[in-house]
Amino acid sequence: MMRRYRIAVIPGDGIGPEVMSATLPILEAVVEKCGDLDLEFVTLQAGDRAKEELGEALPKETLMGVESCDACLFAAVGRTASEVILPLRQRLDLYANVRPAKVYPNIPTLAKGVDLVLVRENTEDLYRRVGFRERDWGVALRIITWRASERIARYAFELARREGRRRVTSVHKANVLDFTDDIFLEACRRVADGYPEIEYEEMIVDTCAMKLVMNPEHFDVLVTTNIFGDILSDLAAGLVGGLGMTPSGNIGESRAIFEPVHGSAPDIAGKGIANPIAMILSAKMMLEWLGEADAAHQVERGVMRTLREGAPLTPDLGGSAKTWELADAIRRNILE
Ligand code: IPM
Ligand code: MN
Repeated sequence: MMRRYRIAVIPGDGIGPEVMSATLPILEAVVEKCGDLDLEFVTLQAGDRAKEELGEALPKETLMGVESCDACLFAAVGRTASEVILPLRQRLDLYANVRPAKVYPNIPTLAKGVDLVLVRENTEDLYRRVGFRERDWGVALRIITWRASERIARYAFELARREGRRRVTSVHKANVLDFTDDIFLEACRRVADGYPEIEYEEMIVDTCAMKLVMNPEHFDVLVTTNIFGDILSDLAAGLVGGLGMTPSGNIGESRAIFEPVHGSAPDIAGKGIANPIAMILSAKMMLEWLGEADAAHQVERGVMRTLREGAPLTPDLGGSAKTWELADAIRRNILE
């Protein structure tokens, strides 16, 4: 039987459209290969260009479009990022931001055997943007609730169980931010009790930053609050070849948006040299979330094989290839 999905596609700004148009043919190759899978792409506008042309960075049609599709692929938006991705995450209650960082073959990386997943709480903390500003001072509230802490902890442990991972590290700053982080930690501990087969540990965020640099292989699943997760996921990306290598999923109860961790990279936009791998791996995460394990595996295998063969690498990885050359090599490996 044919399995059909409608996929909302938001190319956005800067390198966004470039990495998106490198990725869609790869999904089409997977569809061709599978034979019983059908993806319909629904392109939606958001970001700087949308704001210029339509007056709004996140038009209502886009929000409704994302809500009406089975999943969403999001590339990157520019200056208006906080007007687009934050409302999408919060309004659709995409509470788990899942950010794997893994060393792929033949990619120049700082670290060797890293294969970790950072699970970032995605709806609260300083990202609620509750606060105010006077002329020369400002206040921002770190809002942490039991409900959000408990469900992100549960997400992390369920992910660990599903993927056969052995340890969950909860990352906090309860030694100073006790009003908030005690709640986060208590929720993590309560959830950890239900997963005796998975090792649970707690680490203060500054220590964690150091340890991620000095001993990254230690980490398996990390779970943390929104702002710490933002910072540590870039750090983790830095260990495995940079932002061009790290995908993510913003995942809720019944909806999800998949996006590379990188932004719109205006410095290289229009040159056709952006690394498409983060976007391609985000599409792989989307297929997995849709329950299309085989299709997801084909994308992963295509990337693996291409890199093992000594793929044409983009400049961020030390090569001189164009976006399309790397993406096309992956596409051809999938079709083979
Ligand atoms: C990310 C980005 C966003 C964030 C910005 C663009 C709003 O840095 O996805 O990590 O801070 O979450
Ligand atoms: Mn970030």
